[in-house]
Amino acid sequence: MPAPSAPSFDAPPEGQPVVGPAGPIGMFIVLGIAATDDAAATVRDWCGQIGGFARSMRLRFPDSDVRCVVGFGADAWDRVFGPPRPAHLHTFEEIRAGDRHAPSTPGDILIHLRAGRADLVFDLASRLVTALGAAVVPIDEVHGFNSFDARSILGFVDGTENPQGDAADAAAFIGAEDAAFAGGSYVFVQKYLHRMDAWNALSIAEQEKVFGRTKIDDIEMDDAVKPANSHIALNVITDDAGEELAIVRANLPFGQPSRGEYGTYFIGYARDPAITLRMLSNMFIGDPPGNYDRLLDFSDAVTGTLFFVPSADLLEALAEREPNIDGSQAQAAAAAAGSAAASEACDDRPQGAAATIAAASLRRGDDGSLAIGALKAEAAALLPPAGTALPR
Ligand code: HEM
Repeated sequence: MPAPSAPSFDAPPEGQPVVGPAGPIGMFIVLGIAATDDAAATVRDWCGQIGGFARSMRLRFPDSDVRCVVGFGADAWDRVFGPPRPAHLHTFEEIRAGDRHAPSTPGDILIHLRAGRADLVFDLASRLVTALGAAVVPIDEVHGFNSFDARSILGFVDGTENPQGDAADAAAFIGAEDAAFAGGSYVFVQKYLHRMDAWNALSIAEQEKVFGRTKIDDIEMDDAVKPANSHIALNVITDDAGEELAIVRANLPFGQPSRGEYGTYFIGYARDPAITLRMLSNMFIGDPPGNYDRLLDFSDAVTGTLFFVPSADLLEALAEREPNIDGSQAQAAAAAAGSAAASEACDDRPQGAAATIAAASLRRGDDGSLAIGALKAEAAALLPPAGTALPR
């Protein structure tokens, strides 16, 4: 049952808790939605339950700063909710440049959890996925943690130049430019694995040139000495009027030392995903082209998915949505057919991954059933096992 909201006639829609300080434990879950009408209906019902799960947790554990954010991919939006679709929601297109690759990997639902305690994050995740049951298949799950004084696993403080307060709201939340989706946000997630041997072989002075900041005390280098291919130089971008364009990041380190896995889960919220995509272009293609982010000499992106995060109000309302099924199914089938065709043309992992989900959707058309077990196995095979040495 939704909590009663204060009577108000012109209050802007309340956003999901994507900005502000968060607890040190995080979880990132990416799910695929089974290609059945039942699954779509279950996901719609679920939208009305999420707020209640999180509110209960916050009431019972007020000091644990529990945060729960949920987003949906472009195909899922069309299939589960139907038109209209948020103006800039689309499937992320992979980027290839030289030996650098930002893959596009499948994802219908993103669950982003933060709290001060691992048990609360785990319990909330468990409630959320249990409520979805057979409507979803797992694609990826990453457990992150705040490392020392907010350092990435590479040892540099991560998050310092994030916008704060009103600036964070302005960077993260859609406003009047897409009024039907005001209070929503676009979130891009990318899982990176780091080549720690190569990274640790650098001197601290060389590592500082990679980021454009000092390591111990986290001070930005002077422009006169900051390399043009440093992470900072390529990610500070401006609009035509010279105004800086910002996103709100909530990255966390993750890993499994015994398997040699050391990673960064990048997650960036923006009111316009074009800002995040321009940063990615600067990093992978370079600005100017060829002047790519030196961080990528030590880091490989293994996932990449764009989601739309509805406002908290819209999320509740989606439970009651009656989609235009004919139109949305046609759109989803067209998208699936496109992915399958693309995968035939290219035998690359992300295309194949997208095609697996697409093929599952199309398979249902053949016999009316979805082999969830088989899809689970296929989905698990999409991502490299922990600690996999990535080809360069
Ligand atoms: C391996 C993955 C990544 C790591 C370890 C990483 C780490 C860092 C660190 C340590 C900083 C400096 C401190 C700070 O201001 O937060 C930083 C800044 C920043 N990063 Fe990343 N980052 C990663 C990926 C990305 C990606 C994929 C994007 C954008 C799509 C991005 C956008 C930014 C931005 C906008 C800044 C702030 C620049 C400024 O205003 O000075 N980062 N990152």
